Amino acid sequence: MIAAGLSLGTLAPAHGTDLPDAPGRQQVIESCSQCHSIDLLAQRRSADDWSQIVSQMVGQGAKMTDEQFQTILDYLSTHMTPAKTPPAGKAGQ
Ligand code: HEC
Repeated sequence: MIAAGLSLGTLAPAHGTDLPDAPGRQQVIESCSQCHSIDLLAQRRSADDWSQIVSQMVGQGAKMTDEQFQTILDYLSTHMTPAKTPPAGKAGQ
């Protein structure tokens, strides 16, 4: 098959999104692959951005319990953030 690799950057491996194996991964795959490819999650984002995105997805109709929301958000904001030093400027948690 012809991979859609034209403008998606170079990070995504051939098999799709490289979600690190960690608690919450299964939940993310279940909840976030219903409407679109999980490849959409390949791009790393800040925890704030993930929070906004997951809320946005709920707005789009994604169904999840509060607990699942938290699991997904924890996973994404732990494992799918840019590999930089954590933001230091923000006051506390
Ligand atoms: C009910 C369907 C649905 C589910 C479930 C869903 N999404 Fe989406 N998602 C969409 C739609 C529709 C778009 C395109 C929205 C747009 O472009 O306005 C989208 C787009 C996105 C984008 C691209 C946003 C951007 O601005 O580039 C990301 C990232 C994303 N979804 C993440 C997730 C995550 C994480 C989950 C699981 C928590 C999830 N989605 C579950 C419907 C869904």
